[in-house]
Amino acid sequence: MKKEVNSACIFFSSPHREGHTHKLLDIFMEHVKVSELGIVDCYERNVNPCIDCGYCKVHRACVFSDMDDIDRYLKKADLLIFVSPVYNFSFPAPMKAVLDRMQRYFCARFYGNLRPPIDKRKKAVLLASCGSKGTFGIKIMEAQLNKIFTIINCSLIGSVLLEGTDTLGEIPKNIEANIKELVNNF
Ligand SMILES: Cc1cc2nc3c(=O)[nH]c(=O)nc-3n(C[C@H](O)[C@H](O)[C@H](O)COP(=O)(O)O)c2cc1C
Repeated sequence: MKKEVNSACIFFSSPHREGHTHKLLDIFMEHVKVSELGIVDCYERNVNPCIDCGYCKVHRACVFSDMDDIDRYLKKADLLIFVSPVYNFSFPAPMKAVLDRMQRYFCARFYGNLRPPIDKRKKAVLLASCGSKGTFGIKIMEAQLNKIFTIINCSLIGSVLLEGTDTLGEIPKNIEANIKELVNNF
């Protein structure tokens, strides 16, 4: 039986729609039924990077409007689904730009005194793939998300890493089991 989720948003950050990372998302989506789904394809969107202009220190908004729909998702979603390959132990640049742009919520909290800057409490998962064997990259990515999640009222409930994609044939069986376990946790 699929887990029912009212409102969710996918942040997808691979340049390959049929790559290893997307396979993780396909498996995840087989186990959830989402009533209202937002999809942010970070490569397609290619949002402006944060320019630290200070606008959000004064206004409760960003100087750029290209993430206004993402702001609405963050205020409405019950679940955020981050889906990304590991690039140099981190997120690819288009996803990093999306994450850096969440600086406006730090400013809302620390300059605008909004506590919390986003009322809606929500959960998140991270699905990642990497070419080599090793968890260093995903640990860094989790740390980056956890820092931002403190301010956007979100908790990372778990991650699934598909490692060794450089030499991988089929998706190992344990990956689907790990994804099922992740779904059971929220
Ligand atoms: C620019 C770049 C940087 C990468 N950095 C890492 C890395 O730090 N560690 C690693 O294990 N794999 C690294 N990889 C390999 C990718 O994480 C891996 O091929 C991934 O499974 C690609 O997912 P995709 O099929 O969705 O594109 C890198 C690949 C690229 C293109």
